[in-house]
Amino acid sequence: MEGFAGKVAVVTGAGSGIGQALAVELARSGASVAISDVNTEGLAETEQRLKAIGAKYKSDRLDVTEREAFELYAGEVKAHFGKVNQIYNNAGIAFTGDIEVSSYKDIERIMDVDFWGVVNGTKSFLPLLIESGDGHVVNVSSVFGLFSVPGQAAYNAAKFAVRGFTEALRQEMALAKHPVKVTTVHPGGIKTGIARNMTAAEGIDTTELAETFDKKLASTTPEKAAQVIMDGVRKNKARVLIGNDAKALDAIVRLTGPGYQKLFSGVFKRLLPGTH
Ligand SMILES: NC(=O)c1ccc[n+]([C@@H]2O[C@H](COP(=O)([O-])OP(=O)(O)OC[C@H]3O[C@@H](n4cnc5c(N)ncnc54)[C@H](O)[C@@H]3O)[C@@H](O)[C@H]2O)c1
Repeated sequence: MEGFAGKVAVVTGAGSGIGQALAVELARSGASVAISDVNTEGLAETEQRLKAIGAKYKSDRLDVTEREAFELYAGEVKAHFGKVNQIYNNAGIAFTGDIEVSSYKDIERIMDVDFWGVVNGTKSFLPLLIESGDGHVVNVSSVFGLFSVPGQAAYNAAKFAVRGFTEALRQEMALAKHPVKVTTVHPGGIKTGIARNMTAAEGIDTTELAETFDKKLASTTPEKAAQVIMDGVRKNKARVLIGNDAKALDAIVRLTGPGYQKLFSGVFKRLLPGTH
């Protein structure tokens, strides 16, 4: 098991929620952190927290969908710290809407941020992680990357894609004998702003859904989530599940196979109002 002291870690979506907690916990464990987000206000808050603990950090506005900017950014992080050991592709957005009423644009937007953002981050930094001799790619999927529910097709597709991409990468790195470990993260409900920031297909009011998420579904703090992720990284786990909800749902899916669909659709229909 290895620690984080002396490592250089990149965290996307570090202006809020899990990303912010990860940046702070990594810094507390002795890592230097490169933080980025599109939300510069949130990023400034993360910077304040990093300053307060005397962390070494670099902070930049970065949109993970902008591939060229991401590639330039990788070079800048390397130039700043001299090496890069870890990337946490964490930035993500939520969306709700049945396929019937979701536009192509809606679906593409979620794929752009939640899937292509992860691909851009992974590919931009992979050569540097290999070069470091001690690299780790950590890609954040979701429990919705383990099973699908009504109203979440776009998000499900993006998060399943992250899982497929990351699980292949882990095998490739091992076969190529590259010094890069790879972990896929599947959080259950985490107390962050994700549901409040959620977009939806035209005509769907997300207020009630966000309230339900905050009150009933989000059970784990972002700090706890960051600790569970870091523990998984230390142990080089292929898959990290966060929260008892994630563990229980994963077990049901594995036990029932495709049978989970009938079981979950009724439950999630009640939990995710505005969808069918
Ligand atoms: N909160 C949960 O319950 C939960 C559950 C499963 C998976 N996740 C995943 O965890 C990750 C972090 O989410 P969170 O819950 O901390 O949400 P959050 O909304 O608190 O934080 C996400 C951050 O990503 C940033 N972001 C959004 N689009 C971006 C872009 N194009 N480029 C750069 N940054 C961008 C946002 O500005 C925000 O600061 C996401 O990938 C999310 O899908 C969250």
